[in-house]
Amino acid sequence: MVQRLMKIVTVVGARPQFIKAFPFSREVRKHPEVREVLVHTGQHYDYEMSKVFFEELDIPTPDHHLEVGSGPHGAQTGRMLERLEAVLSEERPDWTLIYGDTNSTLAGALAASKLHIPVVHVEAGLRSFNRRMPEEINRITADHLSSILFCPSRAAVENLRREGIGGDGGPPSGPRPRVYEVPDVMREAMTLSLPRAEDRTGLLRDLGVVPGAYFLATLHRAETTDDPARLRAALDLLARASGLFPVVFPVHPRTRELVEASAPPLPGSLRILQPVGYLQMLALERHARAILTDSGGVQKEAFWLGVPCLTLRRETEWVETVEAGMNHLVDLEAGRALDLLRSLPPPAPAAPFAPVGAARAMLDRMQE
Ligand code: UD1
Ligand code: UDP
Repeated sequence: MVQRLMKIVTVVGARPQFIKAFPFSREVRKHPEVREVLVHTGQHYDYEMSKVFFEELDIPTPDHHLEVGSGPHGAQTGRMLERLEAVLSEERPDWTLIYGDTNSTLAGALAASKLHIPVVHVEAGLRSFNRRMPEEINRITADHLSSILFCPSRAAVENLRREGIGGDGGPPSGPRPRVYEVPDVMREAMTLSLPRAEDRTGLLRDLGVVPGAYFLATLHRAETTDDPARLRAALDLLARASGLFPVVFPVHPRTRELVEASAPPLPGSLRILQPVGYLQMLALERHARAILTDSGGVQKEAFWLGVPCLTLRRETEWVETVEAGMNHLVDLEAGRALDLLRSLPPPAPAAPFAPVGAARAMLDRMQE
């Protein structure tokens, strides 16, 4: 029997989505019966926030680049919606695939579902239970509009069930959404990339830091950066941590812009960098004594790599990392953070990384 060609439009736009998209795009290219059309919304556009990932991870050049750029939520999401509607109307795919919880995710879900194109959401079911976060609004909406929901954990499946998605729940009419727990695509991306990341440890030498004797920090969440008092408290915390070990800090453009707008400048004791590529980031994570972050993806990578993590937030979507004792929610309490940094056991050497088969599992479910 000749299998019908399956056409998928994948919508990406922000740094973590390029990383999440890479294993599935790679898997699809092994299947002549599946065609992926890649759409880049243009939410992230600096070389080190976008192109570097396409180059390092060999992601195909996007078929459509929507060039929406930055802006307030409504304006940015509105531009995406208008341009995505045109692309999806022209492409008429079998599926629209979206990742995570950014404005690009939300726009993909809305544009596709209004055109009656079924949506596949990867990293479905995550909740912080804090609706002040734009990401929480994006993920709840995306989940409720999706036909296939790929959850990276049991907790995520349970969150969906509580909202009536999966199990016996579903929309009042039309087919029931299909919920699957599959391995984490970010773990697959990391497993595939770690061998090459080892070549990037020269960065540690350039920074004058020694493996196991520096902290790695990232900050970019609106909840940390948009309130000048919280931003200052976060930077103070990092400055105090640098009294114990050097702190390597690749600065997200949002954070850099907000620091420049609200003096004082970045503390001089930090090793400040532009955002780094994924391979350099994995090298920095793997050899850190501990990681301080408000990023979702970085918390998970720390966990998989066996590196202790302090999450500078009040809650996390990745509850398993906290339950396992590897991730500590310290918010911006510098005293608590410093006590932990002084007393944390050193990183446990990570076990060898076996392939996790996330992309393959997703494609199999979509072909059922
Ligand atoms: C977005 C996501 C967030 C995700 C993060 C990953 C939303 C609402 N937020 O946050 O969930 O964790 O991406 O990194 O979708 N900027 C540049 N160059 C760029 C991109 C951004 O200078 O290439 C600056 C602009 O000043 C922009 C600001 O960063 O206004 C914020 O960018 P935006 O895409 O709106 O949100 P992020 O903070 O990056
Ligand atoms: N990352 C990177 N370079 C950096 C900072 C982060 O490659 O300078 C990677 C990191 O390893 C992880 C992903 O970007 O895979 C996380 O993205 P980010 O923190 O921007 O967003 P979040 O996960 O919080 O949505």
